[in-house]
Amino acid sequence: MKKIILPAVILFLNVNLFSQKFENLAMTPPMGWNSWNKFGCDVSETMIKRMADAMVQSGLANAGYQYIIIDDCWQTGRDAQGNILADPVRFPSGIKALAEYVHSKGLKFGIYSCVGEKTCAGRPGGRGHEYQDALMYASWGVDYLKYDFCFHEKLNAEAAYQTMRDALYAAKRPIIFSICEWGSNQPWLWAKDIGHLWRTTKDIYPCTNCDGDFKFGWLNILEEQVPLWKYAGPGHWNDPDMLEVGNEGMNFLESRSHFTMWCMLAAPLILGNDLSTMSQETLSILSNEEVIGLNQDPLGKQAYRYLTNEGVDIWVKPLSKQRYAIAILNKTKDSITYEFSWKWWGKCFFAESPQDGAYQIYNVFEKKKMGTTEVPYKAILEGRDVTLLIMSKM
Ligand code: GLA
Repeated sequence: MKKIILPAVILFLNVNLFSQKFENLAMTPPMGWNSWNKFGCDVSETMIKRMADAMVQSGLANAGYQYIIIDDCWQTGRDAQGNILADPVRFPSGIKALAEYVHSKGLKFGIYSCVGEKTCAGRPGGRGHEYQDALMYASWGVDYLKYDFCFHEKLNAEAAYQTMRDALYAAKRPIIFSICEWGSNQPWLWAKDIGHLWRTTKDIYPCTNCDGDFKFGWLNILEEQVPLWKYAGPGHWNDPDMLEVGNEGMNFLESRSHFTMWCMLAAPLILGNDLSTMSQETLSILSNEEVIGLNQDPLGKQAYRYLTNEGVDIWVKPLSKQRYAIAILNKTKDSITYEFSWKWWGKCFFAESPQDGAYQIYNVFEKKKMGTTEVPYKAILEGRDVTLLIMSKM
């Protein structure tokens, strides 16, 4: 009898050991920088080092941004044993040395690969090499892996991502696993125990409401996030794609609204601009501690849309300590005056009905207390601007 039970116990342990993701990572949305939005395939160790330096020098590292992630095009082939090879011209010192440099700055290091045999840019992907690649990443000191879905050849998405998760787990280095499947197979329904974040849309583009083949403006993406709030929480986040703040194509108010709404969505804050040349204006948007604070709130709730009317949205994000963030977003290009009475607000998500004057209102961008919910609120908003309020119990 004993001879039969023992292998069964070992088998059970193995199944448990190799079928989990790393818990306690990404308990708040991950914050960092990724090369794709600004640099595309033009990646190199010199540029990545420059970004790591700028992340620290600009104060963004102090504001909470941690990960420096190389997206597609760092890889050129595999050796005779199947080991993945970095481009020797663009990364002459090798990826391990680069990861060490990033770590020496007090930052974390991320890399990119893909479910298919090739990546989206046609470089060698992970298919058939998952465990070998995971061991390589672990030996290089990788802390974050973005895993794309090009050339998937109709593989079952859930199973494909499970394979890579198990490979990472077997390599035993805690690595954030970022699923980049573009929402095609509704990852919010199955990815919670596989990855720490999953893309919910096709690719973002630096514009407010453009709607191209694979290029979406942040307002178009925002619309797609409306039903997804219930799937996000500590350790598992909806990812509406990386930020475009600081890239050409949006004015100051559009950029600030984009950032504010990504914070409201509890989205991963992965910057996509050139950190070494950004303007003070861009830096001021990206480093606003109060806005970041609501993104990083430990309750980990994603905002949901309370109402939408004639181009104006109201979004609500429950925060810890019985506080709520409210974003009033003017999606139109025209300025508006928006007045509303709290008596219309039910108790649907507030601990107490706001019409009882139960909450104090603080305007984040004006850095001012605005009275209580006893009196109606009047917001004057320029085109594409957002008013951000934090309500706390009296
Ligand atoms: C896909 C992803 C992008 C980026 C590119 C790289 O389009 O969605 O975020 O990683 O591939 O080729």
